[in-house]
Amino acid sequence: MTNDDASVADPSRRTFLIGMCGAAALAAGVGPALLADDAVAATGIKRKKNGKVVVTVRKVPELRKVGGRVLLGTVKGAPVAVVRTGSSTYEALDLSCTHQGVTVRESANGWTCPAHGSQFAEDGEVTRGPAMANLALVRTRWNARKGRLTVG
Ligand code: FES
Repeated sequence: MTNDDASVADPSRRTFLIGMCGAAALAAGVGPALLADDAVAATGIKRKKNGKVVVTVRKVPELRKVGGRVLLGTVKGAPVAVVRTGSSTYEALDLSCTHQGVTVRESANGWTCPAHGSQFAEDGEVTRGPAMANLALVRTRWNARKGRLTVG
């Protein structure tokens, strides 16, 4: 048995290396599932059977002030966040970077892409390339009487 054979046959080392690669990918913001769909189970956020997500904004602490935002997980296959843009206005953003599709992350003033550094304002407007376009808006429907935003 060579040293290479020993390393392949040692499951604990392999498991460790796989775990380290996964942790590094998550730390770098690379990967398909950065937004846990568990977020949808949070109070005030419900996923419907048709894939849409309903946000009861008064129950979501992150949306109590203008500029607040909450990650919804994936909505119909896209990573989505809701941003409060005014006293009673909200936007749902597709968090797929418009450069090459990597999921952007929250940053102090908006969103930053971990792949090549594009930056976007809180409302999704591109502020630094290489991305050339704003983050896409996801269709929403606002029910003022119930204070519910349906996303998707
Ligand atoms: S994929 Fe986001 S900057 Fe390239």
